Amino acid sequence: MNNDNRVIIFDTTLRDGEQSPGASMTRDEKLRIAKQLEKMRVDVIEAGFAIASPGDFESVKAIADAVTESRICSLSRALDADIDRAGEALKNAAMGRIHTFIATSPIHMKYKLQMSADQVVEQAVKAVTRARNLIDDVEFSLEDASRSELDFMCQIIEKVIDAGARTINIPDTVGYAVPGEFANTISQLIQRIPNADKAVFSVHCHNDLGLAVANSLAAVGAGARQVECTINGLGERAGNASLEEVVMAIRTRKDSLGVSTNIDTTQIVPASRLVSSVTGFPVQPNKAIVGANAFAHESGIHQDGVLKHRETYEIMTAQDVGWHTNRMVLGKHSGRAAFRSRLEELGTSLSSDLELNNAFSRFKELADKKHEIFDEDLVALVSDTRASA
Ligand code: KIV
Ligand code: ZN
Repeated sequence: MNNDNRVIIFDTTLRDGEQSPGASMTRDEKLRIAKQLEKMRVDVIEAGFAIASPGDFESVKAIADAVTESRICSLSRALDADIDRAGEALKNAAMGRIHTFIATSPIHMKYKLQMSADQVVEQAVKAVTRARNLIDDVEFSLEDASRSELDFMCQIIEKVIDAGARTINIPDTVGYAVPGEFANTISQLIQRIPNADKAVFSVHCHNDLGLAVANSLAAVGAGARQVECTINGLGERAGNASLEEVVMAIRTRKDSLGVSTNIDTTQIVPASRLVSSVTGFPVQPNKAIVGANAFAHESGIHQDGVLKHRETYEIMTAQDVGWHTNRMVLGKHSGRAAFRSRLEELGTSLSSDLELNNAFSRFKELADKKHEIFDEDLVALVSDTRASA
């Protein structure tokens, strides 16, 4: 299963994203986001944690009832009541998945679960077996995998695959991993587990060290074929791997990474805006792909380059990810080429080089006083130049 070159995109904006303090969403808001994710052709939507609250149950159920093109997933701990509640919420799903998890790191087993390693294995197998009795598609996660022992992970994964798990998720729960080491863990697991070919290996990376996307891509290079991520990188603490960055890295560097996704990338910016408006979490201007400045050029050298050939300073097109266009921002670093080009776009050309030079000098003086020069400023500046000629 890991020879397939398509990477499954599993979006957890509605579950892990909602765990971001202050980002809780109503059922109807979640439904709107789920519809947008479906339109974007996300493969799996984790719609919530059905047992967490009556509202979460209703959200998972409403999404499972309404969305038919993406697989709908509910999270559950490795506990009977959680699994049954997830199964109930997913009853009408066209394609459903139960995602069950238990922690496998020494620190979590000792202090949080207060269970021995053998008890953890037993509970994991029991949970996967129970989930498989309710639904065909079961994912199992080893919480805090990046701080878990490799031999123990091999042992538990082999058993849960035998019990029917078809996706094995390796979370970097606390954002502790670094790319080379994380890739090595994934390839070791795939090589050492005898029945590894019966499951898709997945990763779920948190961004505590700002490495969530890098770790996810390194894992893909090592054979992972599902990436769990969120719109705008929303998520617990510093967030999760950002969907837009993972997807656009895979698309832009496909020759190097050798994989692809099924995502309609033109739906990325609308999805980012929707999640930002629903949660009230603004997107920083310099955020990759979806930030307001991601396709804006201010410096004269860059603007001149882009006007001559877009690829001098752009590795993707703004339209590819759902922006209307790239932008030439006129500011104090801008050059004559962008200035002249914007005047032409505005239908306000100047009659001589002398006039253009005068207008450009006035523009530079104004740009020292203002962060950004708008079209109205340019129109006023041109008419002043003409009047004083
Ligand atoms: O970060 C994590 O470990 C999780 C699991 C529940 C998959 O969110
Ligand atoms: Zn998580």
